[in-house]
Amino acid sequence: SALPTVNIVEVGPRDGLQNEKGAAIPVELKVELINRLVKAGNTTVEAGSFVSPKWIPQMAGTADVLKRMEHIPGVQYPVLVPNKKGLEDLIGLLDTNSSNPPLTDEIAIFTAATDEFTRANLNCTIKESLERLRGVTKMALDRGLRIRGYVSVVIACPYAGRTDYKKVREVTQELIQMGCYEVSLGDTVGQGRPHEVGEMLEEVKKAVSVEKLAGHFHDTYGTGVSNVLTALQHGVRTIDSSVGGLGGCPYSPGATGNVATEDVLYALQESGYHVRGSVANAIDLEKMVDIGWWISEQLGRENASRVGRAIKAR
Ligand code: HMG
Ligand code: MG
Repeated sequence: SALPTVNIVEVGPRDGLQNEKGAAIPVELKVELINRLVKAGNTTVEAGSFVSPKWIPQMAGTADVLKRMEHIPGVQYPVLVPNKKGLEDLIGLLDTNSSNPPLTDEIAIFTAATDEFTRANLNCTIKESLERLRGVTKMALDRGLRIRGYVSVVIACPYAGRTDYKKVREVTQELIQMGCYEVSLGDTVGQGRPHEVGEMLEEVKKAVSVEKLAGHFHDTYGTGVSNVLTALQHGVRTIDSSVGGLGGCPYSPGATGNVATEDVLYALQESGYHVRGSVANAIDLEKMVDIGWWISEQLGRENASRVGRAIKAR
């Protein structure tokens, strides 16, 4: 059929878990979360990060997660890489595990639209981060890895206030020119409102075709689902979301998790969009609700998905 397809990038195991306070989340729990998400129909699941464990302690075990989880052909398991060291560690792991399919064939690189946020998240300016990332992307492309890009604070910045959408456009364009097949635009703080998302997207679309853009909305102010629908109306077809609404960025004080995958799926059902390809291949909402409850209980946190709570109460 001619219905447009929406691709969901499930970021729960990375964005969702990176900010959990308290004890280290066991590798086995992360592995089970990823395996369950794939069984529920997800075909892109962010598996973790090769970042400094001093900066983000909860992502320290990502190499072990990649080694122990199931690898289903056709499923993408991107991992975040901030610099050459992270990429070298990943390539070292891939070299010692010549499994088929490989442990992963995709990295995600990240920078931001303000120097203030980039400094907090990566300890450098935007310009310096882009210079670093040029080396990273060259090495990754030589190795045959796919590269996804992220731009944070596309609407507002916790340190600099309102974001200049022209800066979002410039940084996005640079990431595409470096070889990212797609750039995900992050409302890191979750303050964005639908009209702002629309204005930001129209600015970025002046330089980058919309098929290469994804939307990444944190749900701090409750505008997550509205912002997703607005992004779809502006032509975006890839949406990042997190089961149970897990997460938050450690360098964005007060920000809550991503828009919950369950909430996005519920809003899109019977809406004129197909979620990920075909109806048969669609992500199973009931299974996602079960996973949202299971992982929330495991972590001892509230289930942040409105749909998850509503369906349980039925
Ligand atoms: P730095 O301190 O400037 O780095 O941090 P450095 O190069 O000076 O190295 C310091 C130490 O870290 C050294 O160890 C390095 O070996 C080590 P020491 O000699 O002190 O023992 N190191 C590493 N270890 C493991 N893996 C690495 C690595 N690199 C250096 N890759 C750095 C710079 C980039 C490392 C740091 O700032 C960092 O790791 N930042 C990552 C922050 C992060 O992961 N943030 C969350 C993800 S982004 C996000 O959530 C936003 C997103 O969801 C979209 C949105 O919502 O907007 C994507
Ligand atoms: Mg995020």
